Amino acid sequence: MSTQAETKRLTAPDIRARKGGTPIVALTSYHAHTARIVDRHCDVILVGDSLGMVMHGLETTVPVTLEMMILQGHAVMRGSRHALVVVDMPFGSYEASREQAFASCARVMKETGCGAVKLEGGRRMAETIAFLVERGVPVMGHVGLTPQAINTIGSFRAQGREEKDWAPIEDDARAVADAGAFSVVIEAVAEPLAARISAKIPIPTIGIGASAACDGQILVLEDMLGLSPRVPKFVRRYGELGPSIAAAVEAYANDVRARGFPGPEHVYPMKTKT
Ligand code: KIV
Repeated sequence: MSTQAETKRLTAPDIRARKGGTPIVALTSYHAHTARIVDRHCDVILVGDSLGMVMHGLETTVPVTLEMMILQGHAVMRGSRHALVVVDMPFGSYEASREQAFASCARVMKETGCGAVKLEGGRRMAETIAFLVERGVPVMGHVGLTPQAINTIGSFRAQGREEKDWAPIEDDARAVADAGAFSVVIEAVAEPLAARISAKIPIPTIGIGASAACDGQILVLEDMLGLSPRVPKFVRRYGELGPSIAAAVEAYANDVRARGFPGPEHVYPMKTKT
């Protein structure tokens, strides 16, 4: 079989093999230019459905469509060469049946070229995950706080902060692993529970608000860069790009109004006649 790829991208089995090893580094990206930057440092790039909030100003991820995910997934694939690109399956594209999930995932994989998909839900999605994996779709699970369920859970609250609430979350993570997922995102879960799940299941856990006990970490890029106006408690800001972009835009506006931009170095002079 011939292959055209010049650089070998990480695959779902590569990530699966990292259980208990050097922590997996993951970030979200929705564009080619941020994908290019993130790709140099990350093992996994997630084209998250958080793009609904970050790019489109939506209140929740519920209105995000398959077309939105495919458009941005394709852009991220064009911008990256090394990381495993995982595309989130949006609400309504996979829950109705295993067949609906396969048709949606196959479209995402064919039209973006991504290496895996992510979907939310534990025990209730286990049968679907097994169906997808058996048919060639690598699946990253997502348990704990599942933002697509916002209308039934009522708020984006941390999960498992009382021991009596641990069992269903642990069962969800175990079900996803048993179904054949290659890794699982654990979102907004109390530290001891995240540590317990990470110690007990055989696939890498990727934490977001779930402590350093997980096998890897993921954050929304715009949150850690200081571009998001409000961020959850679990985000560490590694940059403050919001104020520096605002200052640059203000300087540009002032220059334009004062006719200080463009300067002589930015204009095209006439060609000199010989
Ligand atoms: O959509 C997203 O960005 C996610 C991460 C927060 C894990 O699902």
